[in-house]
Formats: sequence, C-alpha cells, structure tokens
Amino acid sequence: MTALVLVHAFPLDGSMWTRQVETMRDAADAVLAPSLPGFGGTSLPREQPSLDDYADVVVAAMDAAKIQRAAIAGLSMGGYVAFALWRRHRARVARLFLADTRAEADTDEARERRYRVAELVRKGGVDAMLKTPPAWLRERSPHWDALKATIRRQPAEAVAQASIAMGHRPDSRPDLPSIDVPTAIVVGEADTLTTLEMATVMHAQIPGATLTVIPDAGHIANIEAPEAFDAALRAWLRRE
Ligand code: MLT
Repeated sequence: MTALVLVHAFPLDGSMWTRQVETMRDAADAVLAPSLPGFGGTSLPREQPSLDDYADVVVAAMDAAKIQRAAIAGLSMGGYVAFALWRRHRARVARLFLADTRAEADTDEARERRYRVAELVRKGGVDAMLKTPPAWLRERSPHWDALKATIRRQPAEAVAQASIAMGHRPDSRPDLPSIDVPTAIVVGEADTLTTLEMATVMHAQIPGATLTVIPDAGHIANIEAPEAFDAALRAWLRRE
C-alpha cells in the first residue's frame, strides 16, 4: 500500500475530501487532504503564489507526515497542482488520479475572467461570487448549500490569489507523455467545466492511463457521486 494525498478544488479546502479521508483509510497507508495556502484556515501567502508554490506546500505536508512517495489525487485545481507536482517533485509521485481537470492552460479570455473574479472578491468579499450557483454545478444540485458554506469560510484574498495562480498555469500537455506512473482519469458525465473532451486529451497522451466517466455527476464528482468516485479511487490504488 502507499499513502494517498488528496488535493482540493477551487475555491474549497481540504474538507471537500472528508468522506474519502474515511472511506480510503483501508486502501492506503495514510490519507492526507491538505488545504492549499490561505484555504481551510492555513496562513495566507503575503505575495501572490503560483501553482508551483501550492505543489511545494503539498510536498511540505508529505514531509511533515514522513511520507516519501504518495499516490496523488487532484480534482480540478487539485489536478493542476498534481501536474506541478509531476514537473517539480516527480520522485515523490507514485500514482496520479486526475479528476474533473484538464491539461490545457487558460486562453487569454479565461485568464481575464480570473482577474475579474479576483477583483470581484477583493472588493465584495467571497459572497460576491456566490449570488448564483456556478455554471459547473448542475442546476438544483443538492450540494450547492454545503459547498457554499465551505466557500464562505475561505478568505477572499485566498480565493483571489488562487484565481490568479490558475490563470498563470502553464500548458501541461507537453508533460503528459512523460507520465510513467499508474494514472487514472475521471470525469463526471455532466461536467461542463472540465469536459469529457478534455479528459480524452489526457487519456490519449498518458501511457497506460485509464478513463472513467462517472454517471450522474458534474464537476465535483467526489461529492456528487461519492460511491462511483470511491470505486474509481480503489481500482486505481489496486492497479499493478
Ligand atoms: C476548480 O474547480 O478547481 C476550478 O473551478 C477550476 C477552474 O476554474 O479552472
């Protein structure tokens, strides 16, 4: 068995993995779900961080837990951080699980939207971005209220910084063929933000990767369809 490290989405924190921290306990030596800088009550970076800085913080959490190598599972922004881990700390990565994420960088237009989100929350607080459920969450999702409560707990500055950091992430497509650890790609069938088409790009380029579509789930598949998500995690952790 190996340790499992779960990396969270934007603008949530390590608590989005509460269920998996429990359910995966018997499938891994240890399960960590660190909150990225500024999220989940962790200290806020004084300067604008990059996703590389976030990856370094994940490694620091592994160091603190005396974990040399771990199976890394990242959802959405967590997947972007997983790619940074692969680039910077490859020897620490035993497996990769890329959920509801994508390898492509932002377009100029998407990057502009990230700046606008940062400005919006810096001026109006996190509530300013919570007026309507985000497009990626399926309409009338029963999970919106719980996710909203988690988002409300995050400092506006952490949300602004993460938005900008994501806008500056590099294109990870050139790294895909170098991934030589057991890799699983998972996407909610109704994920409109990181789509099946984007998952297919990763699947085609990562040698030996598996692709699983999670029925009845949108972008936050581990919360929307927890049983199918856990089954995919288990299958990946067991794979030779
Ligand atoms: C996330 O779910 O982590 C983010 O929405 C991803 C993104 O905005 O690209």
